[in-house]
Amino acid sequence: MQAQQITELTGPDTALTLADLDEPTAPLQGGEGVIIDVRAAGVSFPELLQSRGEYQFKAPLPFVPGSEVAGVVRTAPEGSGFAPGDRVAAFTFLGGWAEVAAAQPAMTFPIPDSWSFAQGAALILNYHTAYFSLVTRGRVQSGDWVLVQGAAGGVGTATLQVAKGLGARTVAVVSSDAKAEVARAAGADVVVRSDGPWKDEVLDATDGGVDVVIDPVGGDRFTDSLRSLRRAGRLVVVGFTGGEIPTVKVNRLLLRNTEVIGAAWGEWFFAEPSIGPRIGAALQPLIDSGAIDPPVGATFGLADAAEALRTLDERRATGKVVLELG
Ligand SMILES: NC(=O)c1ccc[n+]([C@@H]2O[C@H](COP(=O)([O-])OP(=O)(O)OC[C@H]3O[C@@H](n4cnc5c(N)ncnc54)[C@H](OP(=O)(O)O)[C@@H]3O)[C@@H](O)[C@H]2O)c1
Repeated sequence: MQAQQITELTGPDTALTLADLDEPTAPLQGGEGVIIDVRAAGVSFPELLQSRGEYQFKAPLPFVPGSEVAGVVRTAPEGSGFAPGDRVAAFTFLGGWAEVAAAQPAMTFPIPDSWSFAQGAALILNYHTAYFSLVTRGRVQSGDWVLVQGAAGGVGTATLQVAKGLGARTVAVVSSDAKAEVARAAGADVVVRSDGPWKDEVLDATDGGVDVVIDPVGGDRFTDSLRSLRRAGRLVVVGFTGGEIPTVKVNRLLLRNTEVIGAAWGEWFFAEPSIGPRIGAALQPLIDSGAIDPPVGATFGLADAAEALRTLDERRATGKVVLELG
C-alpha cells in the first residue's frame, strides 16, 4: 500500500516520504482490529508538530503519521459490531496516512450516510477533544457562556458545534473576517477579532464574562482570556498554536475564584480507554440531530500531505484539513 512516512524531523517541507509498505494487520495498540480501506485521513496540528519532532509523544523513525481515518470496513473481529462494507471513522493514533489502516473496535465509530468520508475523518480527534474539554474538564452546562479561541480551526469549530449542541451560548475569537464567517457557520453567537479590543467586547456581550474559555492557542491572549471569565469561571488549556506557553500569576485565580484546567484527551484516553466509547455515545445524539456536522476546509491527495501540513503551519486552515484517498 501507499503511505506517507515521517523519515526525518525537519518540518513539513522535507520530513515526509511517500513509501510502498506492507498493509497493517493489527492496531498499534494490539489486539484484533478493524481493517479499513481508507478514503480520507485527518490532518491535525499534532502531525505538524510530529514533522518537527516537537510533539509530546515521540515515535521512532520512520513512522506513518495520521491519527484518524474514515473509510470502509474490509474485515472486523467477531462481536465487534462492525461488518465488511460499513462506513466508519476510526482513531488510529498513528498510521492513518495510508491506503489501509487498523483500529481498535472501541475506537471505531459509524458515520452517517449523509456525511462525506472527509467529514468522517474530522470526527474523532477534534470532537472527542471538544467534548472532553467542555464537559469532562470544563463542566459546561446548558445556558453557560463558552468562549473559544482559534474558533475557525479544527478544534475550534468542533468545540463551537458541541457547545451549541449542549445548549451553551458561544463566543468565537478569530483573526480574520474569513475566519469569522467559518466560526459563525459553526454556531458562534458572538464573534470577536483577536486583533481588536476583544476582551472588553466579550465582557459587554456576555454581561460580565463567560463561564468557560476553551483555549487551543495560548500565547499572549491568555491573560485576557482569564480576564474574560465571570466569577467561578474556568479556563481550559487545550494547546499552544500561538507558539508561546503562557504563565499565570495565581493571585488572578484567587481574586474571583477562577480555575485553569488542563485538558489532554489523549493522555486521559490511554489511561482510561473506556472514555472513547463513552464520549462516542455522548456525541451520537448531537450527530443524529445535525448539531455536529464537521466543516472540511482544504483537501489534498495523499501525495500532497506536505502542502496539507503547510496549510496548518501558515495559519491558513479553516475547519478540518483532510487527505482524500481512492
Ligand atoms: N489537548 C488535546 O487533547 C488536544 C487534542 C487535539 C488538538 N490539540 C491541540 O489543539 C491545537 C489546535 O489544533 P487544531 O487542529 O484545531 O489546529 P488549527 O485547525 O490549525 O487551528 C488552530 C488555530 O490557532 C490559531 N492560531 C493562533 N496563532 C497561530 C499560529 N501562530 N499558527 C497557527 N495557528 C494559530 C488560528 O486561529 P486564528 O488565526 O483565528 O487565531 C487557528 O485557526 C493544537 O495545539 C493541537 O495540538 C489538543
